[in-house]
Amino acid sequence: MSATTKLAISSLLCLGLSPRAFAWTAAEPQLPRLDQSSWQQSLDQVPQHTREETGRQATEEWPYGPLKTRGRDIVNNRGEVVTWTGANWPMNDETTLPEGIEFNSVGSILSQVASVGFNFVRMGYAFEMVDQIYDREGQDVSLELSMIMGLGLENGTRVTQEVLKHNPNWTTTTTRFEIWADVVQKAYNKGIFIHPDLHVGRAMWCCSHTDGNAWFDDLYFSTCQWHRALAYIATWARRFPNIVSMSLRNELRESWNRTDLYYNWETLVGNMTAGADTIHNANPDLLITWSGMQYDEDLSALTSVGKNILTAPCYKCTAIVDRARRDPVYFDLDSYPWGKDKLVWELHLYNTSEDVDTGTCDIIKAGLYRNGFNALGIDAPVAGCDLTGDCPPAQRLTPVILSEFGQTPEDDSIYTNELLNCIRSFTTQNRVSWAMWSLAGYFRVRQGIQGFVDPKGMFNTTFNGWHDASVVEKWWKPWVSAMNGTKKY
Ligand SMILES: *[C@@H]1O[C@H](CO)[C@@H](O)[C@H](O)[C@H]1NC(C)=O
Ligand SMILES: *[C@@H]1O[C@H](CO)[C@@H](O)[C@H](O)[C@H]1NC(C)=O
Ligand SMILES: *[C@@H]1O[C@H](CO)[C@@H](O)[C@H](O)[C@H]1NC(C)=O
Ligand SMILES: *[C@@H]1O[C@H](CO)[C@@H](O)[C@H](O)[C@H]1NC(C)=O
Ligand SMILES: *[C@@H]1O[C@H](CO)[C@@H](O)[C@H](O)[C@H]1NC(C)=O
Ligand SMILES: *[C@@H]1O[C@H](CO)[C@@H](O)[C@H](O)[C@H]1NC(C)=O
Ligand SMILES: *[C@@H]1O[C@H](CO)[C@@H](O)[C@H](O)[C@H]1NC(C)=O
Repeated sequence: MSATTKLAISSLLCLGLSPRAFAWTAAEPQLPRLDQSSWQQSLDQVPQHTREETGRQATEEWPYGPLKTRGRDIVNNRGEVVTWTGANWPMNDETTLPEGIEFNSVGSILSQVASVGFNFVRMGYAFEMVDQIYDREGQDVSLELSMIMGLGLENGTRVTQEVLKHNPNWTTTTTRFEIWADVVQKAYNKGIFIHPDLHVGRAMWCCSHTDGNAWFDDLYFSTCQWHRALAYIATWARRFPNIVSMSLRNELRESWNRTDLYYNWETLVGNMTAGADTIHNANPDLLITWSGMQYDEDLSALTSVGKNILTAPCYKCTAIVDRARRDPVYFDLDSYPWGKDKLVWELHLYNTSEDVDTGTCDIIKAGLYRNGFNALGIDAPVAGCDLTGDCPPAQRLTPVILSEFGQTPEDDSIYTNELLNCIRSFTTQNRVSWAMWSLAGYFRVRQGIQGFVDPKGMFNTTFNGWHDASVVEKWWKPWVSAMNGTKKY
């Protein structure tokens, strides 16, 4: 069978699969393993290097992968603890290309990122990038077409030329994944890990209850296509030693468009364990990050001791009506092949939270502990926990990272911002890896606006200087330095 035929077949399979094919039982998640392996087989388009060829298992070179978890820590193959500090670099908006490359070269953007001491970049992407490869019988979309699809003919053509001016190594027909590969390789040279983060299904600004990207089987969130994309990215990532991790899905939340979807701990576990199986089958070296409920604020039912996921508190969730008649279900990470040493929890916290109190540092720390950082085995923060009375210990030690937080005002108000300074002290005291939101001081298109300026981006609007250089010097750099992040050199 030709690669093209296989791709076409697997594309049809995905459309034909009902979400029910992913029915979950507590003992063993059932997966359409046959279909999944056909996705695997159909990835002939992706250069398939063995790990030996690419040196992924080399013990002599940074980052000494594959990485794994050991208790609360992420460790390299030499057993050394790995700590990440970094930033989000968005590429999930309509053009599906990293922001800023029309103003500056990838190399010099990453040099500036590295100059802060950052060693980690979370690249938020839209999984329709992979759908489009399948739709086009294996052919990826070009830089120019991506820009035109996102910005229209006139601006798309113009912005493409701007990109080429700053990144002369590319042409109009360089594809999205070639550009991504260039980013990853340049990041490798600067000692930066790239973390592909499946941010949305359809390319757009994230996140709301009504954007069609909220929850499994939402309007733009085909669960089947999600699996296919995870498998694709995990396979693609084998070539790159500095991709040691990838996410399952950013900021899950209840959909207000498809109101017949079950949104609760049980369906979270069912879908996320199946997704982790997909990643692990495609690339067993990768660490897998798993985010929580209500915009990735809450993992409590999975990290805390003694929580029956049928009855544990769950904000805005679909009730499980027969919960009292069913046997309790306790999540057991160790029962999954990737659970023992590949799973990393990830959480977010913003001051716009509806249900988590971000008013004082004591209460913030109690919330962070309760919502999942208990998995680090740290002491419960007494002052806040006395107020909440809700700080159960962990059922199992597991790494937890804070992969977004804020919002981060890139101005003098950052020095007195209660939430941000609290997060700074919490992550430093407890050695929690983190990524700030975001690098982008400008989005070429966001929320329907072309040329969207974001003063909370760390870069200024032209990605060749900081929005506020003194904030970077006096606030971000000391924090990064205190974290002792893993260095290449
Ligand atoms: C950029 O140039 C390098 C050699 O300098 C080459 O290996 C690489 O493939 C080029 N990248 C693209 C996207 O053309
Ligand atoms: C979801 O519903 C809201 C309210 O009816 C609507 O404004 C929005 O466009 C819908 N979302 C999608 C993706 O269709
Ligand atoms: C995934 O989530 C959907 C809800 O949108 C649910 O119907 C389905 O049962 C879940 N899958 C599993 C395996 O739990
Ligand atoms: C959140 O913090 C930003 C500053 O980063 C501030 O402008 C905004 O008013 C705050 N919002 C809330 C709900 O506190
Ligand atoms: C083209 O981009 C500019 C921002 O660079 C924007 O102001 C303008 O509205 C865009 N044109 C169209 C047709 O969207
Ligand atoms: C961004 O910062 C750089 C370096 O300071 C500066 O050259 C550039 O003009 C700035 N861009 C804008 C739009 O101010
Ligand atoms: C960083 O290293 C210093 C000096 O060894 C140590 O005191 C500090 O606790 C470390 N910080 C973290 C977050 O591990």
